[in-house]
Amino acid sequence: MKILMVCLGNICRSPLAEGILQSKVSSDVIVDSAGTSGYHEGELPDKRSIAVAHKYGIDITNQRSRKFRRKDFQEFDLIYAMDESNYIDILSLASTEEEKEKVKMILNESHPEEDRNVPDPYYGGEMGFENVYRMLDEACSVIASKI
Ligand code: 4NP
Repeated sequence: MKILMVCLGNICRSPLAEGILQSKVSSDVIVDSAGTSGYHEGELPDKRSIAVAHKYGIDITNQRSRKFRRKDFQEFDLIYAMDESNYIDILSLASTEEEKEKVKMILNESHPEEDRNVPDPYYGGEMGFENVYRMLDEACSVIASKI
């Protein structure tokens, strides 16, 4: 099983989603993350994401930002978007129904069919990251329980 988490910059939300889900599943499950933009290519996660993950016992400092690429549709079984704009951007790159069906809104796992967004915490304070952590932890528990 291979699961990809996707946000805009791949430095705030999707690195947390990757780290949280990986902590809840066996190492046979491959979890990765990417951004729809290449703005932060090669960078570490945001230090506020590193800090909140660390607070809950998860190390995400092995991660480096990369851009989502078309080949990810073949490589991954499931692709989770953090918000609606990520979802639209990923779907616009899909070329088959099979590829489109792999793409889901991550909070629909914890709040089915509500199409909730994980808010972008980049321009906010520490509490935004805490809030994002909790939302992703809840969604990733559901994902892990189904694997
Ligand atoms: P992320 O947050 O998509 O959760 O990684 C962002 C990080 C950087 C930017 C936007 C969102 N940015 O515009 O640089």
